[in-house]
Amino acid sequence: MRVSFVNRVVLITGASRGIGRAVALAFARQGALLVLAARSAEGLAEVEGEVRALGSEALSVPTDVTSPEAVLALVDAAVSRFGRIDVLVNNAGIGKVGCVESAAFEDNVRQTMRASLFGMINVTQRVLPVLRRQGSGAIVNMSSVMGRKAFARFGSYAIVMHGVSAFSDSLRQEVADGGIRVSVVYPALTATDLLREAKEAEMPPPFRHMTPLSADDVARAVVAAVRQGKRRVVLPGRANMLLLGEALSPRIGDLIASALTKRRIARLLRMSSGKTYHETIAGYPG
Ligand SMILES: NC(=O)c1ccc[n+]([C@@H]2O[C@H](COP(=O)([O-])OP(=O)(O)OC[C@H]3O[C@@H](n4cnc5c(N)ncnc54)[C@H](OP(=O)(O)O)[C@@H]3O)[C@@H](O)[C@H]2O)c1
Repeated sequence: MRVSFVNRVVLITGASRGIGRAVALAFARQGALLVLAARSAEGLAEVEGEVRALGSEALSVPTDVTSPEAVLALVDAAVSRFGRIDVLVNNAGIGKVGCVESAAFEDNVRQTMRASLFGMINVTQRVLPVLRRQGSGAIVNMSSVMGRKAFARFGSYAIVMHGVSAFSDSLRQEVADGGIRVSVVYPALTATDLLREAKEAEMPPPFRHMTPLSADDVARAVVAAVRQGKRRVVLPGRANMLLLGEALSPRIGDLIASALTKRRIARLLRMSSGKTYHETIAGYPG
């Protein structure tokens, strides 16, 4: 079925840069009306300008997704400007690298949980009454391959991404009778600012030789997920090998994760084309 996004209202959190920005531009190219949320008013204004340059409309609402009052104001602003919300993309989030034994680990879990999971719950709970009233809508929750298989040194992030998976799974079944569809997107390492602060040597070992996806790759997958009503999208598709291996046995999952740390094998599995995450983002404005 061909779904048109012309004049559909798409609310995106974490829209000031990275994947959220790319998702906003991808929907703008389809003629959607955008509601852009993130904390940085400056970042949002830039993305709003890019959306307008594509001939679409955008409303920027500086919002911290961890604040119930701010999220209420965001939803009110979206509905008073456009009258409805058709698609919610829950994308805002953070990620911290570090071992379970590091002193910062517990704090990393708390901070990531607050922004990436409680923020998502907060926005979803406030948008759902609008979708319920309409009797239709789509929600896309951004998880990560780490939401199905954790890597060493990325435990705090993986804990939260597993939480996003479970939250989305429950939600999908609870709202299906209201005409509301829920998709979860699981991208592998992507070339954004998310891990810019992490030193190359401290990265999760399987990321060492991995070539990141582009934010545009993920954005195209988000649009396709809504269009096709997909419940789950893993990016790139071959990352499913890791998830299948893990489902069969954690020994196989760990073996694949360990194999990815070797350049030759990462290339063979087409997870590396030679350029690493840090080499890729070095060319981007920080
Ligand atoms: N990059 C990857 O490798 C990768 C892979 C899989 C999944 N993901 C997921 O993709 C999503 C987007 O990440 P990204 O890679 O695009 O990273 P990014 O470039 O760092 O962007 C993160 C976005 O989230 C926003 N944000 C963070 N905390 C927020 C808060 N409390 N309230 C509102 N907005 C907040 C940021 O805006 P402000 O700072 O302006 O608030 C920014 O727009 C995240 O959920 C991440 O977990 C990323």
